[in-house]
Parts: sequence; structure tokens; C-alpha cells
Amino acid sequence: MKWPAQRLKDSSKKSFGMYEQALALESQGLDLIHLEFGRPHADTPRHIKEATKAALDAGIVHYGDFRGTRGFREALAGKLRDFNRLDYGIDEILVTNGLTHASFAAFMAAIDPGDEVILLDPYYPQHVGKIELAGGRAVTAPLDAENNFAISKAAIAAKITPRSRMIVLVNPANPTGRVYAREELQHIADLAIAHDLLVLSDEVYEYITYDKAKHVSIASLPGMRERTITCFAFTKAYSMDGWRVGYLAADATLIPAILRIVMTDVTHVNVFAQEGALAAVTGPQEPMQAMVDADRRKRDVVVRALNQMPGVTCRAPEGSIYAFPDIRGTGRSSADLATAILTEAHVVTEAGSFYGPGGEGHLRICFGSESEARVTEAMERLGRFFNRL
Ligand SMILES: Cc1ncc(COP(=O)(O)O)c(C=O)c1O
Repeated sequence: MKWPAQRLKDSSKKSFGMYEQALALESQGLDLIHLEFGRPHADTPRHIKEATKAALDAGIVHYGDFRGTRGFREALAGKLRDFNRLDYGIDEILVTNGLTHASFAAFMAAIDPGDEVILLDPYYPQHVGKIELAGGRAVTAPLDAENNFAISKAAIAAKITPRSRMIVLVNPANPTGRVYAREELQHIADLAIAHDLLVLSDEVYEYITYDKAKHVSIASLPGMRERTITCFAFTKAYSMDGWRVGYLAADATLIPAILRIVMTDVTHVNVFAQEGALAAVTGPQEPMQAMVDADRRKRDVVVRALNQMPGVTCRAPEGSIYAFPDIRGTGRSSADLATAILTEAHVVTEAGSFYGPGGEGHLRICFGSESEARVTEAMERLGRFFNRL
């Protein structure tokens, strides 16, 4: 008997990065500071929990609309209009189990076996696994660290072939922390329109931007609405990672195929969790803003500290919860360095190479997942580590 199917073997090559090594050490009782997970630190705001409890008490416990409850999709259409400058009707919105499920359903619906999907390298590794599960081939277009990982039209154009089907964008970007300017997004739009490609835009960090950076949804650029599947989630900004609520917006012509995957896969998303997420969209936004402010303070602590460490330079991320310091000055590979940091400094970071060859020479440090005190302590441990190197 052949088990598991070859495509599953192929797509399970690397999934957990430094986490597995960290677990092994933690089982020996070591106090590790986890800066590898993209998990928000704060609790979910109280009004969101209260709305969910009220939904349960009101008997909202039965099957609902496969696409997501109507009231929730109406609220999401309003949010898309006001925040993202996107005009989608409620039948062009699908509620999903987090962003992970939105992008999975979109890849499964849009990719035929052998189709090529272009990712910007460094990339978010989960997307590669999903493209491979759908039978597609992930093709990477390298971004240049010297140019602050700016979107390069030439790098993407060089990867377009007759088998190209889609370009994947993560904006704000994980792992680089870039928030792409409209002009950069226009490069992707020009290529997608010229070569009749779809774009999958992962905007899970849309609200987490700092200073003057402004999030622009690529689907709002001329000619992009009909060829973009934009995926969102409540995961990061509202500290709702365990709730598993996300959604996607796409043109009416794309929805039936994606809905077929969602229905077949999960029927629909938990109805009382949707009521909580509805409260997140329609309720006060101050708690979310306070969490972003806390992330900004932690970002500043991390960037200031990293820039004082020998062999390390770090640009301030414009968005997301990640710093992506350049460690080439140490002369060590990112995997080697991340392992040494884990075993000697007891801080868990992720090697840049985990995010593709374009991430080599960097570490990814998540400042969103711990308290400011723990992040500060992690920087002290790293400072001692780099000074000893
Ligand atoms: C770029 C990106 N997309 C998607 C996800 C997963 O989102 P969710 O938990 O809503 O499935 C993450 C989580 O780290 C992420 O960084």
C-alpha cells in the first residue's frame, strides 16, 4: 500500500522550523523565550468574548449559511469599502477558518496540476505547501535585501512562463516587515494584467502598520478587482488566533469554485465565533489600536537593541510583528546562528533561510508574541550572545 500520497510527502518537507528544536530543549526544563511564533501576545478584547457568549446564550448553535452569516458578511462588505477601498457585494465574500483556510480554498479552486505560482522570495512557507497540495509548482522571484526587499518587476517578469497562473503577495510582508508602496504593487498589477494572471493577496497584517506606512490592498488598483483573491483574518490585529476566523473577497465569477472547496471541507465556520468576529468589526477599535501601539513599542526595543549588536543591522519594519535583521556581518549562516542562539542564549528565533534562499543572511524575530519585559530580556540575552561571538 502506498501511504501517504506522494503530493503529501512532498509538501510536508519543512513545516515547523526552529520550533521542533525548541520543544526538545524545553522538555529539559529550560526557560526559552519564544520569538519564532507569529502569535499575538494579548488576550482577545473583552467585548468580542462577550458577544460570543451572548450568541451561545441566544442559541446561535446550529448550521448557518455556508458562505458565512449574512449579517457578518454585510459588516465585512462595509469594512472592505471603508478601510480597503474595495467594493465587493456580500455574495463575493466567503468566511473561512482563518486566513490559512481562505488561501487553501483559493489555491485548490484556482490551480490545476502543473500550474506555476510565483512567490516573492523570501516567502511565507505555508503558501508553498498549499500550492503543492493543489498540484501546482511554486516558483520563486528573489527580492533584493540591499534594496530593502522592494518588489522587483524584472525579477517577477523573468519567472513568467505559459504555465504561470498566479502571483502570491503577502502585504504587509512576513517575514520582511515591508508594507509595500502603491508603486510597488503597480508592478505586480501591470504583470498580472499583461499576462492574464490571478493574484492571491494575503493581508493578515493589514492593520499592523507603523509610522507613516499605509496599507494598500492590491485589488483596489485599476483592473485588479476581478483578478485578485484577497484573504484576511481576525487572527493578528484582534488577537484571535485560536478562534480561526478569516474571510476572502473575490469577484463573483471566482466565488463558486472557492465555495465548493469550503463547503466540502468544513461546511462553514463556527457560527458563534462569527458573532464574536462581527463584534470585532462593528465594535470599538481602540483595543486593537492599543495592541498595535504595544507592538510598536516592542518593535522599537528590538530594532534599537539589534543595531547595537556586533555583526547585526536591522531596518525598522514598517508593519507586521517581525523584525528581519541582517546577520551577514557575523559570517555565519542563518540556520547555524539560530541554532546557536537557541542552545546558548535560550531565545527561539527563526533562520531567514526558512523563508527561502532570499531570506539567507537574516533572522526573523517576532516581537509580537511576548510581553515587553520578555522581549527586552530576550534582547539582553541576544546582546550577550553576539558580544561573545
Ligand atoms: C502571512 C501569513 N498568512 C497567514 C497566516 C495564518 O493566519 P491564520 O492563523 O488566520 O490562518 C500567518 C500567520 O502567521 C501569516 O503570517
